[in-house]
Amino acid sequence: MPAAIATPSPAWRRLALRTLADDEHATPESPLVRFPLPSAWGIDLYLKDESALPSGSLKHRLARSLLVHGLVNGQITGHTTLVDASSGSTAVSEAWFARLLGLPFVAVVPAGVSVEKVRLIESFGGTVRFAADPCAVSALAAELGAQRGWYFLDQFSLASTATDWRRGNVAEALFTQLAGERHPEPRWIVVGAGTGGTSATVGRYCRYTARETRLAVVDPENSAYFEAWRTGRADVAAGGSRIEGIGRPTVEKSFVADTIDEMIPVDDAHSVAAMQLLAATTGIAAGPSTGTNLAGALLVIERMLRAGETGSVVTLICDSGDRYAGTFYSEPWLREARIDPGEAGRGIRSFLAGSALHHVA
Ligand SMILES: Cc1ncc(COP(=O)(O)O)c(C=O)c1O
Repeated sequence: MPAAIATPSPAWRRLALRTLADDEHATPESPLVRFPLPSAWGIDLYLKDESALPSGSLKHRLARSLLVHGLVNGQITGHTTLVDASSGSTAVSEAWFARLLGLPFVAVVPAGVSVEKVRLIESFGGTVRFAADPCAVSALAAELGAQRGWYFLDQFSLASTATDWRRGNVAEALFTQLAGERHPEPRWIVVGAGTGGTSATVGRYCRYTARETRLAVVDPENSAYFEAWRTGRADVAAGGSRIEGIGRPTVEKSFVADTIDEMIPVDDAHSVAAMQLLAATTGIAAGPSTGTNLAGALLVIERMLRAGETGSVVTLICDSGDRYAGTFYSEPWLREARIDPGEAGRGIRSFLAGSALHHVA
């Protein structure tokens, strides 16, 4: 890191912004992977592998946007300590970018977050604070961020505004990658919602560029989002999702319900079954929220088949299964958590074998 980066000045800000821009240009686009479906269906399913980004998840894009937002607003200087609330993935990416700029970073995470994510945050030089109550994570981060010399990155409020939905985002990238395919404009894009930033960005981009593509958002058990979307109410509360990264106990500011064409509730057994199936079918071990995405995408495909439609569907690989070796990839942990993916997995496999139109989510 250049020494000048530690000086609080316009020159430091220019250097910091240049460093982020250079890093963005040097980072290869995450690949689009094809999930095998029976060829007679005439439907192509793609997964955009965001785990290939340098900090290992789709949150790489968000962390960069949040840093740029704080820098151009003049709220981050060369002496700022950064802090955010996270279920882990965002904090890993924020720690990665904080290190790039030479700034200290503190992550406030719920007590149950996987040890793998904690290790990653620390390996990038971040400090981890645990909040016993998952609903208190944001409040603790805000309290720390209010101290002099600190800046609260506030992903849950800012994700959908700090991200540029017009260009340079995940949606633009995937449309560019699909341009040479037989169905270049997907019928559906399927994503999950943590902050809601990814879904808002994808939904806005599709409308802004006048696509016919529709946006489906999958929601795990015990999340407030599906009910909030169904009823149009923002005061919904839920117990709290077990699928790390997606589903929230309350409706976050970045969740923009009106950008979503459809929400699909997915139970945890189907999320895990689809995660396991992805690993068995493609060799890609992804995290559980990717399983939720895949289960939702297969449900959408089942409906396309029923309607006699062909076309493409795109979803995201959000992060790698390495982060869940001791949890979602551990049989004893799954048993203790009372998540049994057996029946769900059999249903999905028989659907994919073309033998039955099952409820896959
Ligand atoms: C690990 C992880 N974090 C977060 C999210 C949600 O992204 P966002 O915060 O943009 O809603 C996902 C979405 O699928 C995810 O898998």
